[in-house]
Amino acid sequence: MKSLYYMLISLMPMVMFFDIIQCSDSIQVSASYLPYLQFRDRPYNVSGSMRSLHLNDVPVLIQSGSMHYPRIHPDDWLSMIQLVKSTGINCISIYVFWSYHEVEPGVYDWTSERRNIFQFIELAKSEGLLVLLRIGPYVDGEWSYGGLPVWLRPFTEKYKDIKIRTVNQLWQMEMQTFTETVIKYLHPLFASNGGPIFMVQIENEYDNIAHAFPPADAVAYMQWASDMAHSICSICYWITCKYENVDIKTNNANNNYYSGDWLRNIHWPKHNYTQPGITTENWIGSPGWTQFGSAKPHRPIQDFTYSITQYIAYGAAMHNTYMIYGGTNYGRVVGRTHTTTYSFDPPILEIGIPNNNHFNHLKHLLNTINYYVPALLSVGDNPPPLVNITTKGVASVNYTSPTNISAQSVIFLINNNDKLDQTVVLAGSSYTVSAWSALIIDGHSKAIVYNSANLSDNTLFKLITAQFKNFSSIQYLPEPSLISSIFTNNNKYKLKKSSFHVTLPVTNTSVMQEHYSTTLDKSDYLTYTTSIQLNESDINRENLTLRLPMRCESLFIFLNGKWQTSIFTQANEFNVTTILNITDLKLKPYSIVELKLVGATMGLDSYGIHLENMGRGLAFKLNDTVIFNGKNIVSNKWNYQIGLIGEDKEYFNPINNTNLPWKPISNQSPNKLSNFNWFRLTFQTPANLINNSSNLYQVNMTGMYKGLLYINGYSLGRYLTIKAPTKDPIPLCDYRGSYDPSKCRYDWGEPTQILYHFSAHLLNNNGKENELIIFEETDAIPTQVYIKITAIESSY
Ligand SMILES: *[C@@H]1O[C@H](CO)[C@@H](O)[C@H](O)[C@H]1NC(C)=O
Ligand SMILES: *[C@@H]1O[C@H](CO)[C@@H](O)[C@H](O)[C@H]1NC(C)=O
Ligand SMILES: *[C@@H]1O[C@H](CO)[C@@H](O)[C@H](O)[C@H]1NC(C)=O
Ligand SMILES: *[C@@H]1O[C@H](CO)[C@@H](O)[C@H](O)[C@H]1NC(C)=O
Ligand SMILES: *[C@@H]1O[C@H](CO)[C@@H](O)[C@H](O)[C@H]1NC(C)=O
Ligand SMILES: *[C@@H]1O[C@H](CO)[C@@H](O)[C@H](O)[C@H]1NC(C)=O
Ligand SMILES: *[C@@H]1O[C@H](CO)[C@@H](O)[C@H](O)[C@H]1NC(C)=O
Ligand SMILES: *[C@@H]1O[C@H](CO)[C@@H](O)[C@H](O)[C@H]1NC(C)=O
Ligand SMILES: *[C@@H]1O[C@H](CO)[C@@H](O)[C@H](O)[C@H]1NC(C)=O
Ligand SMILES: *[C@@H]1O[C@H](CO)[C@@H](O)[C@H](O)[C@H]1NC(C)=O
Ligand SMILES: *[C@@H]1O[C@H](CO)[C@@H](O)[C@H](O)[C@H]1NC(C)=O
Ligand SMILES: *[C@@H]1O[C@H](CO)[C@@H](O)[C@H](O)[C@H]1NC(C)=O
Repeated sequence: MKSLYYMLISLMPMVMFFDIIQCSDSIQVSASYLPYLQFRDRPYNVSGSMRSLHLNDVPVLIQSGSMHYPRIHPDDWLSMIQLVKSTGINCISIYVFWSYHEVEPGVYDWTSERRNIFQFIELAKSEGLLVLLRIGPYVDGEWSYGGLPVWLRPFTEKYKDIKIRTVNQLWQMEMQTFTETVIKYLHPLFASNGGPIFMVQIENEYDNIAHAFPPADAVAYMQWASDMAHSICSICYWITCKYENVDIKTNNANNNYYSGDWLRNIHWPKHNYTQPGITTENWIGSPGWTQFGSAKPHRPIQDFTYSITQYIAYGAAMHNTYMIYGGTNYGRVVGRTHTTTYSFDPPILEIGIPNNNHFNHLKHLLNTINYYVPALLSVGDNPPPLVNITTKGVASVNYTSPTNISAQSVIFLINNNDKLDQTVVLAGSSYTVSAWSALIIDGHSKAIVYNSANLSDNTLFKLITAQFKNFSSIQYLPEPSLISSIFTNNNKYKLKKSSFHVTLPVTNTSVMQEHYSTTLDKSDYLTYTTSIQLNESDINRENLTLRLPMRCESLFIFLNGKWQTSIFTQANEFNVTTILNITDLKLKPYSIVELKLVGATMGLDSYGIHLENMGRGLAFKLNDTVIFNGKNIVSNKWNYQIGLIGEDKEYFNPINNTNLPWKPISNQSPNKLSNFNWFRLTFQTPANLINNSSNLYQVNMTGMYKGLLYINGYSLGRYLTIKAPTKDPIPLCDYRGSYDPSKCRYDWGEPTQILYHFSAHLLNNNGKENELIIFEETDAIPTQVYIKITAIESSY
């Protein structure tokens, strides 16, 4: 491995005391900095002091970026790690997603799909990157149930007393077992074995929920978590984030848009100037928690780079860009109603290329900081003071050795004023610092080497795009479970046994079950069926009313197998009142009707207090009612079908679906289908757009509404093309002033997500046709769907 330390990309002119006014970026400094290379494969210790983290006794500055292995196709892991590394980071931060690994109680899967965390970390290691392992094991991460297993909820006998994230024996036992299991499994990759995992996180953002518990419980729980972590690995460098009252042996880290003031005014004083400043999440690019139906958030890069520069100047030991690459919420793993794209606007876009809005300017900053690492770390635990240069918010921090004139020197000029551009004179040179910006100045040449407000380094990459519509065929197949009635020929109601995926204890109960305790998350779809005997007055009406609570994202109501209505909502809870039309059903008095309710969920909540109680589904809570024409039928016998027949029989899988009675969408087919169809679009792999570049793929789902998407048997996630509200006028986006996610949103009035990414590795390269499979909940037909292809023309 060639040595990359402090490699000068452009030579720095050795001009000193250049006593004239300097205003332009006349020199560029840049270096890569991979401290792990010195320790790779040799056991090393990690410690922290006020100014920095130390590997053995070498002080290091950690520039980290988050990317999540389950949100990336494994065939793309290496190239994405390399692209992320090219921004100048030296560390990757990952969560461990408990529910993705402990697939059944005590049964762990570390290899299938995108689960091979061991391999992912080994790839980071091969690139010379450190790894922050954020075990949690509650992680939020916009993952369904915050990453916790679905069975760890009080809906079963075994866990009926569980309270998560507090002093509760059931929870603590499970949390400890998982933490131990992860550490044991990944042990060869820890620092003590020369591996890249140099830091481990326990719990996550506890301050956000601590108020939900008695203060003494919150303190006791976090003390226990810290003690438990250290008892499992005493030589690990443990952190938590967003909990200032944590036990001293665990380092508290910040998650916020700005951390400079937190470091100097809160963190250092609170911990007696012994703990380094670590930020595990500085958010950019949505930052991941965009909900379907909202305009997309955008954090201007000038603000992001200002915040990083300020934090480094103030004395940060480690910061982390969340997300540096967001990737895709493949499958059904994402938290409730979050988009399938994880982060729309990060430095590296979902399709796997630099984001023109962010990439270069961040890269320039990180490489500039890398260059000055010797100066930044030379101060030891005596960081230079913040000196107010003006009374209106301009401060400087001077990293210059007072004794060694030839040592590297760097000065930060920070304008924390969000309105005033200010010109200041510093050691004889004059500098204009725009409002809400930071300058990095070389202490010898006096030249500005980085200006967070100056985007002229952000040269745009040239992209080529094309629309691919050459489908060989478009076929459909109605989803059988929703069109068939469970009536026998003689119109007697018969209970059909639920036969989907798993043998479940609940097939026929006298309360409506909660969705996830019934499905164990095997499907978004749960069908509840019951029979109701009508009385004489019911028959004389032309309609019947139905009222019930809806705690899922779509609900479809059928009467005697006939579709009545569909309801879609993104609300947490919605009270449905609907009219059922029985004119066509030709009912006789005292006849029995079959009521079928199909509820579809889009994940459990990932964030909130007492998350374990937030079930999904229909009327599963105490005192809930389902009112059918004035009569409460909640205690009827309900029959459950988990999932769709198409899911059970794998209609989406080319291995299983060839002999199905697919019908072509053609002139002959009805121009209107019923709801719930599977569609199969076949196509040859498109030729590459340009030489020496890879095609990048997205499906444009125009014309479709909501459902599931697959390519060649691989789930690309849920889709929903619901639009964001319109806004008129759209406020101007001013990067100056504290960012909050309501600022600078874009795509008002547009679908939040119309494009659905898939890895190029999912396409057949053997001449075989590819299959795009769509399960659509409405009667929409995919005649406008196409594949958007992007390739990058210029190199980066
Ligand atoms: C790490 O720390 C332990 C305990 O303090 C010590 O025994 C060991 O020699 C250290 N290892 C290195 C490589 O410094
Ligand atoms: C803080 O550090 C100082 C100097 O090391 C020490 O004298 C003092 O006891 C410490 N205070 C606490 C509360 O740990
Ligand atoms: C520097 O200015 C800021 C306001 O911009 C003020 O809060 C702070 O107290 C000042 N620091 C000193 C040392 O005067
Ligand atoms: C930075 O500090 C050095 C050493 O104390 C000093 O010589 C120099 O003038 C300072 N530079 C600025 C711009 O304050
Ligand atoms: C002064 O800094 C230079 C450049 O970093 C270094 O080579 C030299 O050893 C330093 N001298 C002293 C006395 O620390
Ligand atoms: C921005 O930077 C470029 C060089 O990167 C420089 O030519 C230009 O003058 C700078 N603009 C301002 C306003 O500082
Ligand atoms: C439903 O039927 C009742 C009486 O049978 C009638 O009063 C009501 O208007 C009907 N509602 C609708 C929406 O048709
Ligand atoms: C739904 O109705 C119930 C009972 O009337 C009420 O308590 C609840 O607040 C309602 N929920 C919403 C979201 O309106
Ligand atoms: C019920 O359906 C019948 C036949 O489809 C239709 O004529 C009638 O208008 C419907 N009634 C209501 C209230 O929608
Ligand atoms: C349910 O109803 C019972 C009896 O009416 C009442 O005592 C109880 O408070 C209700 N529980 C909830 C959660 O509303
Ligand atoms: C799909 O095909 C595979 C391979 O033949 C088989 O193992 C699997 O059981 C099939 N699945 C279904 C649902 O038929
Ligand atoms: C998706 O396709 C529609 C219809 O062709 C088009 O209007 C829209 O701009 C496309 N969206 C994106 C983001 O490419």
